Amino acid sequence: MSDIKNEIKKRRTFAIISHPDAGKTTLTEKFLLYGGVINTAGSVKGKATAKHAVSDWMEIEKERGISVTSSVLQFNYGGYCINILDTPGHQDFSEDTYRTLMAADSAVMVIDASKGVEAQTRKLFKVCAMRHIPIFTFINKMDRDAKDTFDLLDDIEKELGIPTCPVNWPIGSGKAFKGVFDRQKKEVDLFSDTRKGTSMGEVKKVAINNPEVDWLIGTEAKVTLEEEIELLDGAAAEFDQDLVDKGELSPVFFGSALTNFGVETFLQHFLTMTTSPLPRMSDHGEIDPMKEEDFSAFVFKIQANMNKAHRDRIAFMRICSGEFDAGMSVYHVQGGKDVRLSQPQQMMASERKIIDKAYAGDVIGVFDPGIFSIGDTLTTSKEKFAYEGIPTFAPEHFARVRQVDTMKRKQFVKGINQIAQEGAIQIFQEYNTGMEEIIVGVVGVLQFDVLKYRLKNEYNVDIILENLPYEHIRWIENEDIDLDRVSGTSDMKKIKDLKDRPLLLFVHEWSIRMTQERNEGLILSEFGRS
Ligand code: G4P
Repeated sequence: MSDIKNEIKKRRTFAIISHPDAGKTTLTEKFLLYGGVINTAGSVKGKATAKHAVSDWMEIEKERGISVTSSVLQFNYGGYCINILDTPGHQDFSEDTYRTLMAADSAVMVIDASKGVEAQTRKLFKVCAMRHIPIFTFINKMDRDAKDTFDLLDDIEKELGIPTCPVNWPIGSGKAFKGVFDRQKKEVDLFSDTRKGTSMGEVKKVAINNPEVDWLIGTEAKVTLEEEIELLDGAAAEFDQDLVDKGELSPVFFGSALTNFGVETFLQHFLTMTTSPLPRMSDHGEIDPMKEEDFSAFVFKIQANMNKAHRDRIAFMRICSGEFDAGMSVYHVQGGKDVRLSQPQQMMASERKIIDKAYAGDVIGVFDPGIFSIGDTLTTSKEKFAYEGIPTFAPEHFARVRQVDTMKRKQFVKGINQIAQEGAIQIFQEYNTGMEEIIVGVVGVLQFDVLKYRLKNEYNVDIILENLPYEHIRWIENEDIDLDRVSGTSDMKKIKDLKDRPLLLFVHEWSIRMTQERNEGLILSEFGRS
C-alpha cells in the first residue's frame, strides 16, 4: 500500500456529541491525556479559560468566554491518527454544530448516567442518523448515582430509535461503583483511584469466575451483576459490526471521564470498531479515499473576520481523498478556476499551527479571500466532480430584523447577505404582505447577538430584532406549489427564502401534521437544500 493510503487508513475522524455538562470536554481532555498531548488532565481546559483558549477568534467569544465556532483536535494514539471535531454546546449551539457532523465519519454520544438522553443530544443525533454514520455511546459519570442501567438503555432505544449493545456493564454507581464487567472477555475491570483523573491509573482486571471477585466487589454486587448479565444476554442485541457501520446499532460503554475510568478501554474498542475515512457521494458517483488518488475536499464551515483589520475569512474543509500539500494549487469547482490554498492550518489542542501536509480524514482551515461557500468542492482530479451539498438545517428561532437608520439600507443588505452566505444565519422574506422586512432564522439564539454585533462592528449598521414566536420551519418540497392555496393553521406563517422557495413557519409542532392533513400531497421537509 502507498504511504498516502497508509496515512489515510490510520485516520479516525469523529465528533463528540452531548448535551451540555454531560462531560464532553472532560472526555476529550482524557483522550488527549492518553494521546500524550497533555501530561495532566485539566491543563488543557480549565473550563472558562479553556473554551476561550481553543478559539478566541472573535471578540464576542472573548467577552463571553465561550466558543462560537467548532474546532478540531488532532492527536495520535495506538497507531491511529485521531481527529476530534468539537461541537459547541449551550446557547453557542449553531448551524455550525450541525455542519461539523457532516465532516465526521462517526460520532461519540456522551450521556450523563443520572440524566439519560437530553434535548441537545436528541437534535445532534438526528443529524448523525440522517447520515447513517456509526454512533458510539459513552455513559458517563458512573461515579455519581446513576439511573437504572436497563432504563438508560431503554431511554436511548425509545428516544433515539437506535438499538444498543453494551460492550461492558457497570457494577453499581455512585459511592458503590466498583467498575465494569467486560462482556466479551468475561472479566471485571476494577475502578481504581486515579487522583481525580490526574493520572492514568491502573485498571485491575479479574476474570469473573475468579473467587477473588466476590470480596473485591462484594457478594451482593456480584449477585446483582450475575442477575443483570443473565437478563442482558437474553434481551440485548448482539454485537454486529455491519449494523454498527450503518449506524443501526450503538455499542455502549460505561465509565467516568472525570476519574479516567473506562476512558482508555473505550478508546481502544472504539478505534477498532469505528471507521477509517468513509467514501463520499459526488455528482460523479462515490469517491472512495482508498481508491481515489487525487486530492479532494469540501468546505463545511466558514469562519469570518478572525482578524478584523483584514476582514479575512477562514474556510474549513474536510479532506475526502488524497494528500494535501501546503501551497498546492487546486481546482475550485463552484468557482470554476484554480486556486492556491494558502496559510493552511490545523488545531492542535489549544493552538493553531501552520501545516504542510494533511490527508483524507483531516480537516484544515485555509485563508479565504471571500470566494468559498459552504459545500464547495476543491480537487486536483481531472474529473472535476462536486461533492453533494450540505443540507440547510432547520432554524428554531426567528426574528424580524429592522435597521435603526433606514438610510443605511445598502450596508444593511450587504452585511446581512454576507453573514448569511457564511451560514451563520438564514434569511427569509415576507410572503405577500408588501413588507420589505427581513426575517432571520437561527439554530441557536446566540447567533442573534452575533448578527447584531457583526452588523454594528463590520458594517456600521444598528438593528432592532423583534422576536417571533415560531419554532418550527418546513421547506415545501413540491415543485410549482401555489403558496396561496396552502391552507394552514392559525399559528402558521408563509414565507420565502432568497431563492423564492416557499416555506412554512409554525408555532406549534402539532400544526405541522394538521397542515399536512389539510393539504393533500403536500411534502414538507425539515432539511432544506443549499
Ligand atoms: P460538557 O463539555 O459536556 O459541557 O461537560 P464538562 O466536561 O465540562 O463536564 C461538566 C461537569 O461535569 C464538570 O464539572 C465536570 O468536572 C463534571 N464531570 C465530567 N465527567 C464527570 C464524571 O465522570 N464524574 C463526575 N462526577 N463529574 C464529571 P463542573 O463542576 O461543572 O466543572 P469543573 O469545575 O469541574 O471544571
